[in-house]
Amino acid sequence: MLPTTIIGKKRDGQILTADEIQFMVAGLVDGSIADYQVAAWAMAILCRGMNTRETAALTDCMLSSGQTLPRCSDKPRVDKHSTGGLGDKVSLILAPLLACFDVDVPMLSGRGLGITGGTLDKLESYPGYRCDLSEVEISQQLQALGCVITGTTPHIAPADRQLYQLRDVTATVPSIALITSSIMCKKLAESLDALVLDVKFGSAAFMQQLSSAQELATSLTQTGERLGLPTRAILSDMNQPLGQMVGNACEANEAVEVLQGGGPSDVRALTLRLGGELLCAAGLHAHLENAIAELAQELDSGRPLARFAAMVEHQRGAFRERLPLAASSVFAAPHSGWLRGVDGQGLGQIVIELGGGRRKLGDHIEHSVGLKVLARVGDQVQPGQPLAVVYALDATSSAEAHRRLHQVWDWSDSSVAPLPL
Ligand code: URA
Repeated sequence: MLPTTIIGKKRDGQILTADEIQFMVAGLVDGSIADYQVAAWAMAILCRGMNTRETAALTDCMLSSGQTLPRCSDKPRVDKHSTGGLGDKVSLILAPLLACFDVDVPMLSGRGLGITGGTLDKLESYPGYRCDLSEVEISQQLQALGCVITGTTPHIAPADRQLYQLRDVTATVPSIALITSSIMCKKLAESLDALVLDVKFGSAAFMQQLSSAQELATSLTQTGERLGLPTRAILSDMNQPLGQMVGNACEANEAVEVLQGGGPSDVRALTLRLGGELLCAAGLHAHLENAIAELAQELDSGRPLARFAAMVEHQRGAFRERLPLAASSVFAAPHSGWLRGVDGQGLGQIVIELGGGRRKLGDHIEHSVGLKVLARVGDQVQPGQPLAVVYALDATSSAEAHRRLHQVWDWSDSSVAPLPL
């Protein structure tokens, strides 16, 4: 087989065999195929797409390029993956909540890049939190606590790591087939019994259009099913932040509020829905409504909060219920009106400018900065009403955030319907 033949076949819109896909992935990992050829192949896949069989074959090859997490108990093993959005702190709540139901939750998570925050960055707001657990440490923690949130280990799907680095610098990230295989190979490596995906759509999401989010959700669930992993997906709105807090320690604090039975209703509702789907998919519940009701009761018991604190401490983080935040200032509405929309990308950029996100890989993260977004689309607002709280390290970055906040809301003179979650 020759790489050029396979690249050319995909360039011309033909369907690749599993052997051809395996040849390319093996060549990427052992270095026998040049990076520029793999990048050309990725571009051909982006332009021509892959069918479900090809996508599953690619996922399987990337999975087989590394190890899988060993099963360490008879308990059902489940996980949730979100395609990323602003203020999405659900993982911090859901992992310990599910662990209270005697299921294992081995969450291998990522860092934020661009405007979407990363779960690992949020957890690193607890000083000392370790995100580099080994496979053995992951198993030990699952046995002790039933939940772990850590980074992907170097032995899991190395082909994905190499391919992602090439995609990142060759404008080949936004391909449904490549995103699907990249997400699913890492989730399959967790040796799960069930997976639920929270596929976001809207101004602050990877997939801005509902139709592309639907296409991605279908591709992810079909790939999971083909490779023997019961996979469900829900589509959720990301045209405004989830909850109020955006920023690392800000979001960790809000997650703790939800774990205390309070917090914003959208964060709670989404967490319960995703958890309910998982309990049903894992065969622990027959009816979604009953599963959600039981999860809600558990959330209010205080036990999931204790489990979260134990998880943070087990991973050497210094847990506290309220992490300190940078100095705050209120941004007030300049006039009256209804809020028709909010520029999610703009809000995310403000948090990055405050120091809470990365412009490029390896940038330092300032955990204490962020935003509390008090207004929701559909709200009727009076002049002077607080719309947001800015947490900033100094007066200059605070002033700049205030200047930019003037531009993020879209106003209407007549009433606007709220956005459904
Ligand atoms: N997340 C991943 O892990 N991979 C992608 O390709 C996109 C998002």
